[in-house]
Amino acid sequence: MELFQQMEDMGHERVLFCSSPEVGFHAIIAVHSTVLGPGLGGVRMHPYKSMDEALTDVLRLARGMTYKAAAAGLNLGGGKAVILGDPKKDKSEVLFRCFGRYITAEDVGTDVTDMEHIYTETPWVTGVSPAHGGSGDPGPVTAFGVLQGMKAAALWQLGDASLAGRSVALQGLGSVGYNLALYLREEGAKTFGADVDAERIAHARDEAGVEIVPPGEILEVDCDIVAPCAMGAVLNEASIPRLRCKVVAGPSNNQLADEKRDGPALHERGILYAPDFLINAGGLINVYHELTGYNRERAMRAARGIYGNMIRVFEIAKAESIPTYQAADRMAEERIERMKRIRPQHWGQHWQRTIRERPRISS
Ligand code: NAI
Repeated sequence: MELFQQMEDMGHERVLFCSSPEVGFHAIIAVHSTVLGPGLGGVRMHPYKSMDEALTDVLRLARGMTYKAAAAGLNLGGGKAVILGDPKKDKSEVLFRCFGRYITAEDVGTDVTDMEHIYTETPWVTGVSPAHGGSGDPGPVTAFGVLQGMKAAALWQLGDASLAGRSVALQGLGSVGYNLALYLREEGAKTFGADVDAERIAHARDEAGVEIVPPGEILEVDCDIVAPCAMGAVLNEASIPRLRCKVVAGPSNNQLADEKRDGPALHERGILYAPDFLINAGGLINVYHELTGYNRERAMRAARGIYGNMIRVFEIAKAESIPTYQAADRMAEERIERMKRIRPQHWGQHWQRTIRERPRISS
C-alpha cells in the first residue's frame, strides 16, 4: 500500500518494475502524467544503494518531466526510467535490449549507443543517432537552452542579458557542462569548472579554457552565476549559506534537495534561482522534434524559447511574491489543468506514423 499511497500523493499514473535476472536487468519505469501526451523521459543508469533510493529518484524525476514538458509548451507527458547498475561495469547490449515500454532517451550513465540497442527492439526511443533519423546526443541543445535561461536570469538579476565579462562556475564538465563552457567562451564569459573525472577536466581546460577548481570548492566560487551540471540535490541546507553567487542557473535535474525548504532559502538570500526543469528543457525539446521528424534548426529555434519562458516565470514570482521554483510549478500546473478539459487524444496516431517511418536497425 505504501507505494500506491506514494503514487497517489505525487500523482503518478503507472510504475513498472522490470526484472530479467538472467541478464542482471533491474529497472523501474515511472509514468507520471499522460494528460498532455505520451510520457517521455530519459533512462538513468546508476549504482543505487537500495531499491528505495532508486524508486524515490525515478518518481521525482518522472514528475519533473511532466512539469518540464508542460512549462515548455510541448505535447508530452512525463516519465522516467532508472536501471539499477554501474554504467562503468554492468552495461551490455542485451541489457538495453530488455528495455522498451515508454518513450525514452539518454540520461546520466547512458549514451547514443545504448539508445540504438533499445531501438533494435522498439521504435519508442529518442536520441538515436542521426544515421537512423534521430537527433543524437541531446547535450549540446540542452547547453544552448541553458545559455538562453542564463541570459534571461542575467537580465533580471544583473540588469543586462549579455554574459560578456560575467563569471560562471560549472559543477560538472560532462556533456552539458562542457558544451555550455564552449558557448560561454563565445559569449566572452569567464568560466570556472570542477569535475571528478580527470579526462573531462583536461578536455574542458584545454578545449574550452575553463579554469579548474577542486570539486569541493566549486559552489563557493565568488562569481555571478553558479551552474549545477552534475547530479541533483546540490542546493541544500549545507551549500546554500556558502554560495557567493547572484544567480543559480544550470541543467541538473532536481537541484533543490527539499523544494519547500531550499527554494525559499535561496529567495531569502537574494539569489535568483532559474528553475531546473525550465532551463534544462533543451534536451527534451530536441528529442520532441525527433518524434515529428528531426530538424536541428527547428529544435534550436524552439530551445531559444527558454529565454522568454524564464522571464515569464520571474514575472510571476515577482507579481505574486513567491520563489521562482513555485512560479514555474504554477505555470506548468495551469497548462495541464487547462488541457485536462479537452484531454487531447490526437498524439498517438500522429506520432506512431512518424516513428514507424524511421529507418530501423536490424538485429
Ligand atoms: P554527464 O554524465 O555527461 O556529466 C556529468 C558530469 O558531472 C560528469 O563529467 C561527472 O564526472 C561529473 N560529476 C559527477 N559528480 C560530480 C561532483 N561531485 N562534482 C563535480 N562533477 C561531478 O551528464 P550530462 O548529460 O552533462 O548532464 C548533467 C546534468 O544535467 C544531469 O543532472 C542531467 O540529468 C541533467 N540534464 C541533462 C540533459 C542532457 O541533455 N544531457 C537534459 C536535461 C538535464
